[in-house]
Amino acid sequence: MKLSVIGAGYVGLTTAACLAQIGHDVFCSESDLDKLAKLQNGVMPLFEPHLEDVIEGVRKVGRLHFGSTEDAIVWGDAIFICVGTPPLANGDADLHAIEAVARTIAKRATGYRLVIEKSTVPVQTGAQLRKHLSVHGTNGSKYDVASNPEFLREGSSVEDFLHPDRIVIGADSPRATDLLREIYEPIVQQRFDCPIHSDCPKRKKPIFLATDTNSAELIKHASNSFLAMKISFINMVANLCEAVGADVTKVAQGMGLDPRIGPAFLNPGIGFGGFCFPKDVQAFIRIAEKSGCDFSLLREVEKINQRRVEHFVEQVRNELWVLRGKKIAVWGLAFKPNTDDVRFAPALSIIRSLQAEGARIQAYDPEAMEKAKNEIPDLTYCQNAYEAAKGADAVLLLTEWEEFRAIDWKRLGGLMERSLIVDGRNALSPDDLTSYGFHYVGIGGVSGTPQELTSLVNG
Ligand code: UDX
Repeated sequence: MKLSVIGAGYVGLTTAACLAQIGHDVFCSESDLDKLAKLQNGVMPLFEPHLEDVIEGVRKVGRLHFGSTEDAIVWGDAIFICVGTPPLANGDADLHAIEAVARTIAKRATGYRLVIEKSTVPVQTGAQLRKHLSVHGTNGSKYDVASNPEFLREGSSVEDFLHPDRIVIGADSPRATDLLREIYEPIVQQRFDCPIHSDCPKRKKPIFLATDTNSAELIKHASNSFLAMKISFINMVANLCEAVGADVTKVAQGMGLDPRIGPAFLNPGIGFGGFCFPKDVQAFIRIAEKSGCDFSLLREVEKINQRRVEHFVEQVRNELWVLRGKKIAVWGLAFKPNTDDVRFAPALSIIRSLQAEGARIQAYDPEAMEKAKNEIPDLTYCQNAYEAAKGADAVLLLTEWEEFRAIDWKRLGGLMERSLIVDGRNALSPDDLTSYGFHYVGIGGVSGTPQELTSLVNG
């Protein structure tokens, strides 16, 4: 089928590439001309595992094209809107980019178009879109509007798109529902050339959930807000574990064994970040407020998350006493591993707090340093984890990249001023580190002190 995708961010680029991968003929547009030129010249504007290979592969066989929004609107029978909906100052989602696309569709489209919201939008946006298209429609075009929220995670977006747990669509016409079922059929049947795994046919088939537009729009915000709530819950439990001398890892394990709770998203740490959870929780609070519902629960989720940064800095202060003049190594800047994205990354807030107290930061991240330099230019960026730890009074692990688990601890011990690791993600093993003489401080009561230090302290 000929499909159009408007917007080439994480969601748009993954959607366009994967729809082409499963066999559709896709035209993807981008209004940022620099980014568009990069894409047309085969240069990736972002780091995302597998995505570059998929794009290269489908462009080679002529199933993916990049160009202007106008050309995209003329191209496909179905148009996926994947433009950004960043937060406004009051927390509402900024919908001006969606409106601008709708206006262009109304002017340019001829014949029938299925307009699909894939960006994260507040409930009832579909109704607004439908009205807007009919008011501004000039060419006697017929429109259907549908919602098709995306649940992909950065760092695994290609896998999440091709092997989802569910595909949610919200449409108010059988024609629109049938068209979306046809578009996603290869994924529902798990019948496509998978760029990641060889044994795909055996994979679990996703559920195709067809509902009305409002419900589909709410599923997205409710899902992200629920996951954010789960993280804030375990972060509060972590504080309690620190206060009463329990181990949050064990508590989370015990909770997660109950299938009604499940082990996912029970990893305590320095708080959730990224371009989705913080803004979606805010937007959901606002949506509820405007509908007369006081979602105070989510306000608490936000407060708990905001306090994670100060809580972690306090832990570092407790270990280092005076922060001024201390040399601190930071491992990880991205809001999570396998992405170069530093938007709303807790690591950057922690660095700013430490710098404000006069600490000198030496940072390393495998992928996100270029983007971090735009946010915090005045800190030392290092080539690798060892260089960052040179002469440091402490190493802070702020993003759980796999490579930090494979560090040569003996070598590291020889480089640091003091063998202290403060792990903001509980990514490392206290036993391993203490066996190399490190003092280890994790989240939620997880810690370790090397034998000789213990005997020194206990005399
Ligand atoms: C999220 C949703 O998972 C995805 O379904 C949606 O489409 C977009 O938003 P993403 O923002 O890429 O995806 O990241 P995710 O993996 O969900 O992590 C979000 C944040 O929560 C990260 O900062 C991560 O470090 C943190 N997190 C996650 C925790 O602190 N603990 C956990 O147990 C899980």
